Amino acid sequence: MVTVFGLGFVGLTTALGFAHLGYQVYGVDANPERSRQIAGGELPFLEPGMDTVLREQLGNRFFVTDDPKEAISQSEYIFYCVGTPYGADGAADLSYLFQAIDTTISSIEDDKFRVLVTKSTIPPGTTAEQIAPYVQKKGDVSRQLGIANNPEFLREGKCWEDFLHADRIVLGCSDPVSEEMLKKLYAPMGIPMFCVSPATGEFIKYLSNTLLATLISYSNEMAEAADAFGDIDIAKAFRILHMDQRWGGCNMTSYVYPGCGYGGYCLPKDTCALHAQAADKGYEPKILGQVISVNAKRFSVMAEKITTGLRKDSIIGILGLSFKPDSDDVRDTPAARIISLLQEWGYTSLLAYDPAAMEGFAKQYPHLEVRMAESAGEVCREAEVIAILTAWEEFREPAAACTKPILDCRYMLTAEELGRPETEGKGMELQANTGGRLEWKRSNLLG
Ligand SMILES: NC(=O)c1ccc[n+]([C@@H]2O[C@H](COP(=O)([O-])OP(=O)(O)OC[C@H]3O[C@@H](n4cnc5c(N)ncnc54)[C@H](O)[C@@H]3O)[C@@H](O)[C@H]2O)c1
Repeated sequence: MVTVFGLGFVGLTTALGFAHLGYQVYGVDANPERSRQIAGGELPFLEPGMDTVLREQLGNRFFVTDDPKEAISQSEYIFYCVGTPYGADGAADLSYLFQAIDTTISSIEDDKFRVLVTKSTIPPGTTAEQIAPYVQKKGDVSRQLGIANNPEFLREGKCWEDFLHADRIVLGCSDPVSEEMLKKLYAPMGIPMFCVSPATGEFIKYLSNTLLATLISYSNEMAEAADAFGDIDIAKAFRILHMDQRWGGCNMTSYVYPGCGYGGYCLPKDTCALHAQAADKGYEPKILGQVISVNAKRFSVMAEKITTGLRKDSIIGILGLSFKPDSDDVRDTPAARIISLLQEWGYTSLLAYDPAAMEGFAKQYPHLEVRMAESAGEVCREAEVIAILTAWEEFREPAAACTKPILDCRYMLTAEELGRPETEGKGMELQANTGGRLEWKRSNLLG
């Protein structure tokens, strides 16, 4: 049996995944509202396909409980999927993880062997240098506890698909009993498993996220260089880059593409946490430092593009608030950073629309005063200038039909959809000094 602490994107997917494999799973979340919602069969976030799985497994093999004692007494596997947000100086805040470990240990009343598995993203060395000594200090109970790291690679919006069809399972273990137990647990999935040291497991997760962030910052830097060169169709250039057969048609090309800066729960905090961890160990990762600063600057680059030549009282339309399309997650969303800058600079007439994230955005950023619209069409009708901040596919049609200046901060529209004439010469003339293709509709309309 399995207990999962934290029923967010990772925890709920893990819990339902193990229930789907036939195990009995208890889910514990510190947020009573979230627990009630899930226990009532409702997903607390937008995640395609998972509502059906929740309804299938709830009360069958998956149980939400507010009594960790009962859950832990029955379980051999305890998974920690709690948040590890920004802490001081960008380092990972591990307080939720240690709270969950405390709850676990204080609930143990027998001498059954259990393995404590961290699925949350934690900096390299955390298991060996912090978790293991912490558990050992708890006395006799620690002798019956194994400690392991099992990083998670799922993508929001594809959580269920990524659980079922994971590329690899990484088991970071330092004792053979835990390793065998985890191999047995995951065996029915038939997915390649790699047993490594806990620090290697922790590092692999950061390797993945920092590489993705690097690809994005590289792409954004190149887009800014292209703006400086002028007369460059940035979206087309990147799409043609992706045609190189050495990419092999891989999905990674979506990260080698410019936008308005990386956001969401993982890349911003994980790049900062790895940077802080390296600095703490006496090594300064220079490229990673630049990846972070290119990203931080990207929000003001975008806000400047939006406001160039605009009156302070102009209505600015915002299309997209979530950090990526098909998601309602607004944690560290670029839209919040850009909107915050617009307001700071005195542009306060903002009208926004997002198909899924308006409620969450208003709740998470109550200090940002944004009027919410009913549709993308309403934004295009009412605003004087429109900024696309999330590449929701449903924005394509209204944006292409719109005659107002469009700032396509996600490079989702083709030159034709943006209303750029086919003759390169004419385009070139209009784009001079305006920062490239992104600006064409503005230069066309505002001269
Ligand atoms: N979201 C992703 O795409 C993703 C992908 C891979 C890894 N991760 C990592 O997984 C971890 C969780 O991410 P998430 O997006 O699922 O977070 P989340 O914020 O969606 O969920 C975390 C949950 O943990 C709960 N929680 C906090 N303290 C608790 C405690 N002591 N006991 C029980 N529940 C507690 C919170 O109430 C919350 O519901 C993070 O370390 C993250 O970096 C996230």
